[in-house]
Amino acid sequence: MCGIVGVIANRPVASLVLEGLKRLEYRGYDSAGIATLSGANIERRRAQGKISNLDARLQQEPLPGNIGIGHTRWATHGKPNETNAHPHATKRVAVVHNGIIENYKELRAELEGKGCMFLSDTDTETIAHLLTLYIEEGLSPRDATAKALKRLEGAFALALLFSGDENLLIGARRGSPLAIGYGDGEMYLGSDALALAPLTNRITYLEEGDWAEIKRDSVTVHDASDAVVKRPIQQTSLSGAMIGKAGYRHFMLKEIFEQAGVIGDTLNSLVDPATGELQLPELPFNWKDLSRITLIGCGTAHYAGVVAKYWFEQIAKLSVETDIASEFRYREGPMPKGGVMIVVSQSGETADTLAAIHYAKSQGQKIIAIVNVLGSSMARLADVVVPTLAGPEIGVASTKAFTTQLVVLAILALDCAVKRGMITKDEMATHVKTLREVPSDINAVVQQHEQIRELSQSLAEARDCIYLGRGLNYPIALEGALKLKEISYIHAEAYAAGELKHGPIALIDEDMPVVVLAPRDALFEKTASNIQEVMARGGKVIVFAHPEGVKSINPKPFWSMALPDVDSFVSPLLYAVPMQLLAYYTAMAKGTDIDQPRNLAKSVTVE
Ligand code: M6R
Repeated sequence: MCGIVGVIANRPVASLVLEGLKRLEYRGYDSAGIATLSGANIERRRAQGKISNLDARLQQEPLPGNIGIGHTRWATHGKPNETNAHPHATKRVAVVHNGIIENYKELRAELEGKGCMFLSDTDTETIAHLLTLYIEEGLSPRDATAKALKRLEGAFALALLFSGDENLLIGARRGSPLAIGYGDGEMYLGSDALALAPLTNRITYLEEGDWAEIKRDSVTVHDASDAVVKRPIQQTSLSGAMIGKAGYRHFMLKEIFEQAGVIGDTLNSLVDPATGELQLPELPFNWKDLSRITLIGCGTAHYAGVVAKYWFEQIAKLSVETDIASEFRYREGPMPKGGVMIVVSQSGETADTLAAIHYAKSQGQKIIAIVNVLGSSMARLADVVVPTLAGPEIGVASTKAFTTQLVVLAILALDCAVKRGMITKDEMATHVKTLREVPSDINAVVQQHEQIRELSQSLAEARDCIYLGRGLNYPIALEGALKLKEISYIHAEAYAAGELKHGPIALIDEDMPVVVLAPRDALFEKTASNIQEVMARGGKVIVFAHPEGVKSINPKPFWSMALPDVDSFVSPLLYAVPMQLLAYYTAMAKGTDIDQPRNLAKSVTVE
């Protein structure tokens, strides 16, 4: 959570910092602030709420200065008001922070005992006072930083500026990501390369424990033991254009419409178009030797893992344990010797998933990371990275990251199935062929978006909503309910359709919309029976099914939509799309803030 930016240049930087923050707003939007050095003085502007409020503040009271740091906050410690907004500062130091300082209470008590006056409720303010204390004891900013970092426990990415030194920005990372950008006579810091994309494509990702002294024409990186180290400069392929809305009203809608393209890109990176052979990175294990694998993620990424459980178990006959990372990390469950854990994450920075990786590594597991952000912490920790080529996903509600995660997982399951001798190469080729048809089927679905928009007008009236699915589409029902909750704020729950009778059916009445996913598969007739059971109790059934399925449902449900008649293997990829559109248009009808829903942030880098 939280985005941080720093700029050191030979021109005023407040507007550059502000633009960087706007590109990080997906990480948090409870408050925002900027501090610059103007002469020897630290000056700050901060505002509660979105970055537009800070922008308005800066129009009224511009900030001079050629060096500055900025922050957009997802509140952890202290209310999301202006007092708690970063940067936190003393006369000597200003600091922006992404993460949590776990020993801040002890540090605060110690610092208060030495006469420091705290103004906010945040953990971050302790860093500003600690640095100030060391500087007032006579240490240079650099030595004060080295000493202060050793006192901090927890996770952080920091950007620091010091009064009296207009040619020094310090960045530090432990647990939270931080990138240095190289310009021409100017340098930048950012929580990710997206923040810096319009300024530079030359990036260094700091490693765990690193801290860096950044001047206008040089960067010195230190590792956790303070030794000077070299870190490579990478060229990113991100451009400013990739992170615009391209004429769409919201990033989420743009990202839904991009899915056909990015699914194709991801598939092409994994299957040789000429031979049809899978081209996965070399795996440091043999699928045949495994008795079970573990699949871990959070939220939408976890649901991708649940779909994959069905694929691995049905096709490759390999047992899969799936879990949400926040439970898995503390369960301390036994893991098979020489086993494999697959982690799924858009950002590659989710704190719980990272902790799950550390646990699995301590149990001797090999890690495959399916991530969308290549320079991310998970990509660096994993033994093998299989990227999703979704491109930047800015909308907080995950869409194209999810469907591209499904593509990678499907290919891994097919590789596993062939290597374990559970399917022939011809059977694998048939599955790959059906995957190749998915982009055009998705295009056909998004063309029908107006129908879904009409339905959404009535769904927007609902207080609660139930989603039902079976087999491969049970996790898609879970994902559909999550999408609706997070952007429309309608209470939604998903159930495996067969579970309905065991309790949830008591919720059905004429006010309860029930969204049912019913692709052509071995379980269609069973789902059709569940539809009748719901209708018999007055529930308002909304059906997404294959064309014949829609026709066969009698009496007619409240609303139905025929989707392309795809092979059941790829149906989760297709059925995810109308779930996204339904949530999107319902949120539109309710007038919520779709790209930045309340209380959420794109990347959850704290527990
Ligand atoms: O970056 P990650 O994929 O690890 O994020 C995991 C979840 O926080 C994320 O999928 C979240 O559930 C989304 N907002 C759902 O749309």
